[in-house]
Amino acid sequence: MSAILFLPSQKVISADGRRNLLELARELGLPLQAACGGKKICGRCRVVIEETGELPAPTDREREALRELTERGYRLACETVLCGPARVRIPEESKILPPVILTVDGFGDIPVRLRPAVELCCLEVPPPAVERVTADRERLLKALEEAYGFKKIAVDPLLLLRLPQTLRDRENRVTAAVWNQRELVGLFPGREERLLGLAVDLGTTTLVAYLLDLQTGKRLAVSSTLNPQVHFGDDVISRIAFGQKDPEGAVQLREVVREGINDLIRRVAEKAGVRPELILEAALVGNTAMHHLFLGLETRYLAQAPYPPAVQESLWVKAREVGLAIHPSAAVHLLPLKAGFVGSDIIAGILATGLHRSPRVRLLIDLGTNGEIVLGNRDRLLCCSTAAGPAFEGGHIRWGMRASAGAVDRVRIDPETLEPTLRTIRNQPAQGLCGSGILATTAEMVRQGILLARGNFNPLVRSARLRPGEDGQELVLLREWEALGGQEIVFTQRDAAEVLMAKAAIQAGTGLLQELFGAPPIAETLLAGAFGNVADPDDVRTLGLIPAVPTGKIRGVGNTAGYGACLTLLNKNKAREADRIARKMEYVELAGNSRFQELLMDSLLFPGAQDFKDYSWRGLC
Ligand code: FES
Repeated sequence: MSAILFLPSQKVISADGRRNLLELARELGLPLQAACGGKKICGRCRVVIEETGELPAPTDREREALRELTERGYRLACETVLCGPARVRIPEESKILPPVILTVDGFGDIPVRLRPAVELCCLEVPPPAVERVTADRERLLKALEEAYGFKKIAVDPLLLLRLPQTLRDRENRVTAAVWNQRELVGLFPGREERLLGLAVDLGTTTLVAYLLDLQTGKRLAVSSTLNPQVHFGDDVISRIAFGQKDPEGAVQLREVVREGINDLIRRVAEKAGVRPELILEAALVGNTAMHHLFLGLETRYLAQAPYPPAVQESLWVKAREVGLAIHPSAAVHLLPLKAGFVGSDIIAGILATGLHRSPRVRLLIDLGTNGEIVLGNRDRLLCCSTAAGPAFEGGHIRWGMRASAGAVDRVRIDPETLEPTLRTIRNQPAQGLCGSGILATTAEMVRQGILLARGNFNPLVRSARLRPGEDGQELVLLREWEALGGQEIVFTQRDAAEVLMAKAAIQAGTGLLQELFGAPPIAETLLAGAFGNVADPDDVRTLGLIPAVPTGKIRGVGNTAGYGACLTLLNKNKAREADRIARKMEYVELAGNSRFQELLMDSLLFPGAQDFKDYSWRGLC
């Protein structure tokens, strides 16, 4: 076997003539993009073969995706299998960059009455009497009953292993951690005053962990990381497919996400200067696929209509059963799910925003690969999930990317010269367009008359920035010499069609819920998630993404999923409230819904376009 040297990491692996370069890069943990998970669809896994012996000719798929780049040694890693020694470079534009993470900081302190499920009980346990020997466990439980009134407490069998020694370490003075007044989940020698909780938002792209002091309600530390499952595909469907490939696939997905969470646990504990074993309860939220992949549940049927989840109810498991590096006896709460594409992240979002208690009807939209929509108030909650496609996360867009340093997030186009001005995240050289950049580009093109209501380029507009391309007309946002990697950044006719389809799906889903609700006035629209926080309400309105409400009534609400998970840790009643929300939600399945299809067709227009009035006048919308 011969060695393959990956650059710039300088990591080496043996070429076995069997596995492709993407699989080898994965094994080395290299940050190589693979949006489609290796299904040879996305064209993102580009590498440059700098040196090798025999190299098979590019496949048709490679020629289509890479065009003239093949002459500069570019290949698709998931298409390329090498047998001999080689030097392979992962170019800047193919690297997985750390995403910009949104935490619950936008909410400030978490105002909730503290009522954690775990209580710390300081005890002095009488030593065994010579005349009548009683076991350590029984004396401990008796002391607990006498001092705190807790009866019939179960003891996690794992604690028995060290119980005798723990009692004697500090002369029978211990601190017992009791969960929900019914189970002993921790025992510490002497007086232990810290009681910690961990909330985790299991996002498809990012994992975020919050460390909370359950006695003061303070957030001690927050940390985030790229979900390591992105090496197996950007979206949940690619990952589900990867998990089905062979039995090892699902195990790999489960293990990498657990490792990612454990890495976050180490980081938040280090930041706060505490031991992870003091974390005595955890709450996890995420979409249904992430929930199932974390637990190792079957995901096959989540990808088949009617997309039933394996379970909907809240689950409580022990930390050791799911491999979390906190106290092994800690209870881990997985909040309830509603449907295959309406997960606990949405339920936590409702909890966080108080939608279910609101006297006025409000709309909550979480824009991701699927746009989850909830419309409701204290009387009724309707929800659906639209297959909006990944356009708002940069997927299926020629120069789309996730929100990382260097992603264009704001675009303005001069109405006179049509020259674009771009703003990038962290002011880094532009590499592509993230969701808000895609939204802004489309909205600006609509405002300046470059895009017409049906999403096609206006043939009457002339500019040096506009030209025909492989995917129809295109707008050159960044010229070759201005871009990292010497690639122009363009926005194409096909991109505009993707955005139009995604926005139509959201608009039609919202419209259907409104009709089912009886067309109530919507007091406020809340945009959840990182995208919602940065999207410009003017752009949202120009494209008609949501019902026509004044700009001031659209609000980005940040990471409501993480915030909701924190609430359930700080007050155990909130965990029950999440269960009630799940039961109250009415799920509307859109697949095969003929009214949704009608609304979808009607929504395939940009209402802010200059020719929109013409269409209205001609009765076309
Ligand atoms: S084309 Fe190679 S990972 Fe998508």
